[in-house]
Amino acid sequence: MTMWTKPVGIVGTGSFLPDNIVTNADLEKIVDTSDQWIRERTGIEERRIAPEGMNASDMATEAAKRALEAANLTAEDIDCIIVATLTGDMSIPSTACLVQANLGAKRAAAYDLGAACSGFVYGLITAGSYVNSNIFKNVLVIGVEVLSRVINWQDRSTCVLFGDGASAAIVSTVAEGYGMLGMDMGADGTGGMSLCIPSSGTAMVPNDQRVEEGLTYIHMDGAEVYKFAVKTMGRTVLTALDHAGLELSDLDCFIPHQANTRIIDSAAHRLKLPSDKVFVNLPKYGNTSAASVGIALDEALRSGFIKRDDIVAFAGFGAGLTWAGLVMKWY
Ligand code: ACO
Repeated sequence: MTMWTKPVGIVGTGSFLPDNIVTNADLEKIVDTSDQWIRERTGIEERRIAPEGMNASDMATEAAKRALEAANLTAEDIDCIIVATLTGDMSIPSTACLVQANLGAKRAAAYDLGAACSGFVYGLITAGSYVNSNIFKNVLVIGVEVLSRVINWQDRSTCVLFGDGASAAIVSTVAEGYGMLGMDMGADGTGGMSLCIPSSGTAMVPNDQRVEEGLTYIHMDGAEVYKFAVKTMGRTVLTALDHAGLELSDLDCFIPHQANTRIIDSAAHRLKLPSDKVFVNLPKYGNTSAASVGIALDEALRSGFIKRDDIVAFAGFGAGLTWAGLVMKWY
């Protein structure tokens, strides 16, 4: 029972990570934490942090160029650019418009999508729907974050978790029998305040006092988000599989949002997947929010982890609270 009426898939991917590595040992010098605590509770060993002057649009543009090259397309072939991010350069213009200008993608519509860590999978599903309905032929989906600029580096409960990076995928028509097979997208706004940046919009405009009080940084009820993630990540894949008319036993590999190895292990357990079918690069990059699933996808493809004909599941969860699952047959 595929939800797409024509074969729509991913024809090229790319990613970009800043060179600057911050290890757990580096963080031990800033806050009261330890390499052991961070590894045991999260699985993270190091993360990349963008240098001053490198913005979301810069990283997004690099990832997009790599995806275009992989797809053998030019910027002018792109009909629409969707940038999933919560740390765009500014609220207007959108980061997608900045990327459009950087690439010279003159024909492309462009907008940002706000679904936090679920953003890349939300973007893939949205792009797939455009291509399926002949609105657009080639859609560039980007996930990018500069979370290092909205983290309170004095708060050990959040500053150890996040990293910066970008990823991109081009969604287009693929060969018959391949591409997107099933999806799931959802949200529970009642849990929204468990993961928020209180002073980041018009409800509480940032001012000196709010900056002083730390309200312009990420605030997270880690235990609440953890419970939500454990409940959601496996379930969204099961729902997407069901929509695809597939069984758990059909699944060849799983590309989860990279937030915490304990959350990934719990989802893998629910999906009855051995660890060698689950792609994990969290130790190197930490949680890069909207960029995470796309960076994992790009590395999984380039390393040969995903092969032609594989049934691949993607899952994201994050602020909102939001979640998304997608099942594809790899082209
Ligand atoms: N180093 C040392 N100790 C720490 C640190 C740290 N970096 N951070 C917290 N602690 C302490 C706490 O203060 C607490 O101490 P206490 O018991 O004396 O009060 C203790 O460690 C245990 O804290 P918990 O919060 O219970 O630790 P837990 O095992 O739950 O792990 C974590 C915390 C890693 C944040 C976990 O809850 C988690 O991963 N939550 C999900 C986060 C997530 O996935 N977010 C993704 C969405 S992000 C997005 O959408 C942008």
